[in-house]
Amino acid sequence: MIREVRLHHFRCFENLDFFPDEHRTCIVGQNAQGKTSILEAVCVLLRLQSPRTTTTSDLIQSGSESFALEGRFGDTRLQYRQTPEGRSITLDSKIQQKSEDYLSTARITWFSNSDLDLVKGSGSVRRRYLDFLGMQSVPGYRKALRDYERALRSRNALLKEGRPRREIAAFDLPLLDSGEVLLAARSKLVEALAPLAASACLEISSAADILAVRHRPGCSVPFSEALATSRPEEDRLRQTVCGPHRDDLELELNTLKASSFASEGQQRTIALALKIAQARHIEAIHGHPPVLLLDDIFGELDTARRNNLLAALPKDAQTLITTTFLDWAGDAASMAVLTLEGRRLKAGGPK
Ligand SMILES: Nc1ncnc2c1ncn2[C@@H]1O[C@H](COP(=O)(O)OP(=O)(O)OP(=O)(O)O)[C@@H](O)[C@H]1O
Ligand SMILES: [Mg+2]
Repeated sequence: MIREVRLHHFRCFENLDFFPDEHRTCIVGQNAQGKTSILEAVCVLLRLQSPRTTTTSDLIQSGSESFALEGRFGDTRLQYRQTPEGRSITLDSKIQQKSEDYLSTARITWFSNSDLDLVKGSGSVRRRYLDFLGMQSVPGYRKALRDYERALRSRNALLKEGRPRREIAAFDLPLLDSGEVLLAARSKLVEALAPLAASACLEISSAADILAVRHRPGCSVPFSEALATSRPEEDRLRQTVCGPHRDDLELELNTLKASSFASEGQQRTIALALKIAQARHIEAIHGHPPVLLLDDIFGELDTARRNNLLAALPKDAQTLITTTFLDWAGDAASMAVLTLEGRRLKAGGPK
């Protein structure tokens, strides 16, 4: 479990020390106090990526040039520094050139209101969801994804410039090699997730809603054939038109397409079910649950769904919750409550 987190020049915080409870911690604070930033810091420290931005410079406190995060997960000391010279990460004070060992320390599942985009948003949101899980549960996933994105970028740049086929073909092999790994991994992931998401959906909706989740690959298999037959279209559109960058998840609720027919409440339920499935899958693979980061989602849920969600979260998972009001929390007594005000954390609920 995460035992301490120290933020230096991260987002709106110059310095902040945070000591989460081993079970549930709730951070209460008004808007713009920095609640999401604290959970984001935990995510960046443990997974080296932010759930709300891909631009690392956004994380640096404005007016500063660098930020640092330090923490302890179990007995392991983690440190992440971002300076104008670049990123440095250390594990028990040893500098890590590669991120593999560092990332094997801890896993997380992030819940926020923008999870609704899993249902309503574009395929890229659902691919990111699969990738975030794949990187935490499938060996080699991160490398395959990086290699695929690199080959795709280079290939698309050449297609855009209208360069000769032999130049473009230099990137076919790396694209196919990494693409096939991704396609197979995502298909297996969805196979494992589908029943977990379906049962989580039944639990949250009090058995009212049946969720079906399917992988819709961004190309027919084998990928090499699909790539070869897509050449005329590639030449016309000047980009790679098939492959895992076009993968998607099909979501059906009670046999109807979720994005077109599910109500707002049902869409929220589907999004929660997908995230619970993610946490349960990580628990099944690693034998212990991920750290759960729940950013301000409880205020949006009705009482029944709130209780169902709390009951559906993996037991024994360390859970960090943010909220603007505590009045929903009937069982606040079972949580460590901290109030965030004036960029400081204080024990106890708001006065
Ligand atoms: N890089 C940065 N440097 C300084 N301040 C920042 C930076 N990034 C964000 N902020 C500010 O930090 C403050 C806290 O943001 P954060 O999203 O963490 O608040 P919050 O408590 O989650 O608010 P809400 O309840 O509205 O979600 C905001 O005023 C935001 O503008
Ligand atoms: Mg917030």
